[in-house]
Amino acid sequence: MNSEILIRTYAGLEEVLAQEVGKLGGINPQAIVRGVTCQGDEGFIYKLNLALRTGLRVLKPLHEFEFRNNEDFHREVMSIDWPSYFDVKKTISVDTLLFSDRFKNSMFVSQLAKDGICDRFRNDTGKRPFVDGHKPDIQISVYVRNYKAVVYLDSSGESLHIRGYRANNVIAPLSEVLAAGILSMTGWSHHFPLYDPMCGSATFSIEAALMADKIPPGIFREGFSFMNWKSFDPELFSTIREGLVNRIEDNKAQIFASDINRRAVEAAKDNIYRAGVEDVVQLQTADFRKLDPPGKKALVILNPPYGERLKPEDIEKLYSEIGSVLKHTFAGSEAWIFSAAEDAFKYIGLKPSRKIKLFNGSLECKLLRFEMYAGSKKLKMNEKK
Ligand SMILES: C[S@@+](CC[C@H](N)C(=O)[O-])C[C@H]1O[C@@H](n2cnc3c(N)ncnc32)[C@H](O)[C@@H]1O
Repeated sequence: MNSEILIRTYAGLEEVLAQEVGKLGGINPQAIVRGVTCQGDEGFIYKLNLALRTGLRVLKPLHEFEFRNNEDFHREVMSIDWPSYFDVKKTISVDTLLFSDRFKNSMFVSQLAKDGICDRFRNDTGKRPFVDGHKPDIQISVYVRNYKAVVYLDSSGESLHIRGYRANNVIAPLSEVLAAGILSMTGWSHHFPLYDPMCGSATFSIEAALMADKIPPGIFREGFSFMNWKSFDPELFSTIREGLVNRIEDNKAQIFASDINRRAVEAAKDNIYRAGVEDVVQLQTADFRKLDPPGKKALVILNPPYGERLKPEDIEKLYSEIGSVLKHTFAGSEAWIFSAAEDAFKYIGLKPSRKIKLFNGSLECKLLRFEMYAGSKKLKMNEKK
């Protein structure tokens, strides 16, 4: 039976997520602030968790209500038939998104909701579930805006950016969901070589390789919260997982990842191996200033270092070198640069043909597209004469 589903994502990724949900079979996907709503059945919830690249959490709304005070709120949460959704032996955790001055903080709301859930269990079964803030079996999510609240069962549990392939962390890895969203925005297809010349832990390269071969990113995960629901249907889950795995292709994409830092390359190597894409991603330790030209039109994706770790004079040098490498090594190609260092973009010395506002956590960033002409513009105009 179809019901409402909410998928949360980062600000700026709503449209790409809505397209993705539509392509996976979601009914009536609608972009909302930091999310997408659609209709689908429980099997579709399994599919979303396994296959989504640009979503963070898949939520099933249980109850929407208005309240005036704490007692109302507690009573409404208690009115949900919790024992029908999960066994009392399962551990729970509640997180709250609060946009209301009715409550002093989100922790208080979570506590109130936990009390409502436990009281309902105690009422019906004589027992209450235990709370586990670290690795709960059941994740519950509460959204409060002014005097309205929605209570959700979070089918994902751990956020979906935790794919399960990341073995090693280097400094400042990009969220996998953000990397996948950025790649979708670039419109990259496996018919073009992809260069990731400041790859760090290789998030862009791995996500691109998974996209190229249609590998569902959720298949590396240990599990999802919905597996602890009473309604969980393991056979249906296996069928859906198998269906997705059977659609994996071998598209022989050309993805070139490199980084100047040996430690980053080691971490990238582990991650690439764990994601099973070592035949797709060609990895090397290299200074991006010394790379050989690709020889054909390519897409370059760059997430250069920024912020506190660089001195202003180093930022100017780095970004002007990026501009120069793009113009000379990657003439005829297209580059997309994702950075929070808005002031530094001017040192690139190229005019962006697109600017997109995105967020890396709470940090405002820009994604800029640069199209590099093969030969200078002036030369092209002379050729016309
Ligand atoms: C912000 S991190 C990239 C993080 C990456 N997107 C990830 O998800 O792990 C920037 C990377 O640029 C690399 N880098 C800096 N200067 C470089 C250069 N001249 N050539 C190649 N890589 C460079 C750093 O070693 C670092 O790994």
